[in-house]
Amino acid sequence: MPRLRLAAILLCVCTCLAGRDPGWWRQAVFYELCPRSFQDSDGDGVGDLPGLIRRLEYLRDLGVDALWLTPCYPSGQVDFGYDVTDYRAIDPALGTLADFDRLVAEGRRRGIRIVLDLVLNHTSDQHPWFREARSSRASPRRDWYLWRDGREPGQPPCNWQSLFGGPAWTWDPATGQYYYHYFYAQQPDLNWRNPAVLKEMLEVTRWWYRRGAAGFRLDAVDNLLEDPRLADNPLRPGRNPYGDPNMVNLNNFRLPEEHRLLRELRRAADPFGAVLIGETYTASTAELKAYYGAGDELQLPTGHMLASLPELDAPAFRRRIAEVEATGCWPVWVMGNHDLPRAASRYGAGRAPDAVAKLLGALVLTLRGTPILYYGEELGMVGHEPRRPEEVRDPMARRGWPLAVRRDGARTPMQWESGPGAGFTRGTPWLTIPATATTHNVACERGDPGSVLSFYRQLLALRRSHPALRDGDRQPLAPDDPQVLAFLRRAGDRRLLVALNLSPRASPLNPVPPAEAARAKVLLASGVAVPVAGLPAELGPYGVLIAEL
Ligand code: GLC
Repeated sequence: MPRLRLAAILLCVCTCLAGRDPGWWRQAVFYELCPRSFQDSDGDGVGDLPGLIRRLEYLRDLGVDALWLTPCYPSGQVDFGYDVTDYRAIDPALGTLADFDRLVAEGRRRGIRIVLDLVLNHTSDQHPWFREARSSRASPRRDWYLWRDGREPGQPPCNWQSLFGGPAWTWDPATGQYYYHYFYAQQPDLNWRNPAVLKEMLEVTRWWYRRGAAGFRLDAVDNLLEDPRLADNPLRPGRNPYGDPNMVNLNNFRLPEEHRLLRELRRAADPFGAVLIGETYTASTAELKAYYGAGDELQLPTGHMLASLPELDAPAFRRRIAEVEATGCWPVWVMGNHDLPRAASRYGAGRAPDAVAKLLGALVLTLRGTPILYYGEELGMVGHEPRRPEEVRDPMARRGWPLAVRRDGARTPMQWESGPGAGFTRGTPWLTIPATATTHNVACERGDPGSVLSFYRQLLALRRSHPALRDGDRQPLAPDDPQVLAFLRRAGDRRLLVALNLSPRASPLNPVPPAEAARAKVLLASGVAVPVAGLPAELGPYGVLIAEL
């Protein structure tokens, strides 16, 4: 009995430490950033935690509640932090544990929580665990990774391929076996069927929660488990950008048993009121729903249900949103991240990137659910793709040049001001800063009421001051409109109308009866001529209107 009481007290203390409200992540606006691209403080051209701390004030003024930082641990830096060499430290290029503690404390003072990225599927090949595992077949760590004999001499154990090109098996001459890696050969997969691996990773999460981390974005969760029989994957016609045959990752991707692991991770998170965001690229709502479990797995699986739509198209977006809502699970809305081309470029290519940036911000910040913004979206930052292979930093693109996905373009430094280092660094930035940084930067946009930044700030402030936008229900309007996505957000007797023109053509606007439209008060608009009273009759190309009815 006393032990039970102690556990209850501990749980209570942890929840209080996490900010009292276990459902805080429903209300929060998340902001993903790559620390190496946010703010450099020592002139080496790479952003760092002291730099980020200096910019917390900006983030507070912007109005975000939680930051998701791409990996900050010591790393082989083959995959920009996604190849970890020590799960309980900070990469020296980014700072120290003391800097992390300061980040948490300074964030807390400003109401901003810090969420880390947990790379749990694999480590770096330089991690002491892997070094130990590869030292001998008899090593106690051997079974922490996936080691197998070849099918026959010179033949990997099965036909699985690495996402980053070539076989997913690498021969280790010293011990005469292959090891498995879904990503680069420098990222060996951990063996999650080994209970010691699970135990250690749960401890890692608790260690960071106790230090003040508010949660994790769980990297590559669909890769955690593999079919133990190592059955070959079926092939599809054609070849991928690396020249490998196309295949269906039937036996090494999204295995149903991964849900047991997600439940364990959640059980460790709950006493701390921590959030688990998942890297879960789902194509269907049935798949998406599975990640929530019975409310005991991920709180925020990033389904990419919108970001995967190829173009702005009101009927397609309307359908997707309705499908996500029909799952009955709490939605997560994301338009961009560090692996995808920038959203303003994807959807605004060559047309009106600023108008599109505002439209996308209005979409994710007015839908019912938790939005995750990606740094620079609030400035209308566009992609800056390397044009020559020598400019490429991401090995994935170099290896599959020119056809493979290019990720550098979405990871360029944050644009703070005009000038050579864009206020990001006084040295040479690790990725080239695009010419558009001279017009699209915090310093210029802050003073311009028509800028993308000013629009985002108003949007975030509106979301904060209107419970209808945070907690209210959502009622779709004009279900057959070919251009405009319109809906109501309602809480108590407050009703907000949101109308978004997803097309490059102006569109008539009549989502509510004329008498109601005449009484409406416009709260925020872009691409619209706002009348003195009531609602405008037309929404311009990619126009946005938010009004109180
Ligand atoms: C995830 C990350 C990506 C990384 C990969 C391997 O997909 O988002 O950036 O390359 O995992 O860790």
